[in-house]
Amino acid sequence: MSLDAVLAKIDEALPDATARLLDLLRIPSISTDPAFKADCDRAADWLVDDLISLGFDASKRPTPGHPMVVAHYNPDGATGPHLLFYGHYDVQPVDPLNLWDRDPFDPQIEDTPAGRVIRGRGASDDKGQLMTFLEACRAWKAKHGTLPCRLTIFLEGEEESGSPSLIPFMEENADELRADVALICDTGLFESKTPAIVTMLRGLLGEELTIHGPSKDLHSGMYGGVARNPIRVLSRIIAGLHDENGRITVPGFYDGVPELSDEMRAQWQGLAFDHARFLGDVGLSVPAGEVDRTPLEMIWSRPTCEVNGIWGGYTGDGFKTVLPAEAHAKISFRLVGRQDPFAIRAAFRAYVQANLPADCTVEFKGHGNSPAGQMSVSHPAFEASRAALTDEWGVAAAYVGCGGSIPIAGYFKTYLDMDAMLIGFGKDDDQIHSPNEKYDLESFHKGIRSWARILDRLTKQAK
Ligand code: BES
Ligand code: ZN
Repeated sequence: MSLDAVLAKIDEALPDATARLLDLLRIPSISTDPAFKADCDRAADWLVDDLISLGFDASKRPTPGHPMVVAHYNPDGATGPHLLFYGHYDVQPVDPLNLWDRDPFDPQIEDTPAGRVIRGRGASDDKGQLMTFLEACRAWKAKHGTLPCRLTIFLEGEEESGSPSLIPFMEENADELRADVALICDTGLFESKTPAIVTMLRGLLGEELTIHGPSKDLHSGMYGGVARNPIRVLSRIIAGLHDENGRITVPGFYDGVPELSDEMRAQWQGLAFDHARFLGDVGLSVPAGEVDRTPLEMIWSRPTCEVNGIWGGYTGDGFKTVLPAEAHAKISFRLVGRQDPFAIRAAFRAYVQANLPADCTVEFKGHGNSPAGQMSVSHPAFEASRAALTDEWGVAAAYVGCGGSIPIAGYFKTYLDMDAMLIGFGKDDDQIHSPNEKYDLESFHKGIRSWARILDRLTKQAK
């Protein structure tokens, strides 16, 4: 039975595959909000059932947070590689809800001038992407009666919350999870049209801080001018995190940040990234990072410090002349190379403490941390998959960096001594984490076809 038959089956079954995805998208599995705990559980059950229908030995595995889904397929006399596939079934919160054109959990196929899209929270990040692999398996099974090789599926429900249960789970189940190579589908195409394999992605460190000043909220007429205002203190501290060249001022922050190799620099230059379009699409025109870096470098190979939220005082309707007792911010750092998240956390906290004036105190809360990931491109699976992607998309697949973070990407090496390969089909305009998230039907369809081709190449390579 040829690969062509599997590809034809994928084409023919696309409406059914899409219907299944819409079904999964209806489950509001928001991991970060405890109100949706039962829904996360339901999404895990849905996936277990689907994997069982594909012939996997699948189960929902409890963790202190949301469950993992682990499934195995080990055909008699299996030859070839043992592959592990990873995706995440949790999604980001939907707020601000009023900016959505439809209910985020009532997904729909929409016709847009740029083609058909699947609209709904999680369509691209990451339910649509994880289903590309399961649908490739389904078509393969339908045509061959079996799957091509030994497979382990590992689906997480806490990726969008920093994967707090992941390391203990991987350590406790290392023997069960270990495979020859991991495939991760949670990234995008390059420039929305060229298939891509991610060779490096940034790590992440999240910090929340509260600055306390007066013992209670005060009247800003009665106390303003004499009393310390925590919002002003916080603003000054945040403003001081970057210098005029866009560099981060926290002492020791750049320890472990490598310079891009000449080879990588040349490769990236060859990618012809259209930064004017990239910024133009989101209403901007001028790169605002470190002055001496190209936009691709800023996103893929340089660390950042961004303020994700800041609040305090009165923010409701109308006006209130309050001098608040406290001020808050959520700040995240994207990490590269060998930057140590724990060292940066300590250095950041020390920086804030050192800049606190009299009568102020600060409280910190950490929100997850993961180091940057560097993939081993020399692993033979990379070239085989690159060729498979080129076959499907008709353009050579690119080796790229990724500005986003996927904690597990680096953990495979650290905890299971496995190489991992990141291949995804998201587009820059998918609006992941934002209102009106979508996944192009083309991404879904060609994503499924891409995995079938990759499975075919990887199993043939092993023979
Ligand atoms: N799928 C994304 C990572 C991603 C973002 C890939 C952009 C390609 C382009 C992933 O689900 C994600 O959003 N991760 C979070 C990590 C987190 C909350 C610990 C991120 O990068 O902010
Ligand atoms: Zn994701």
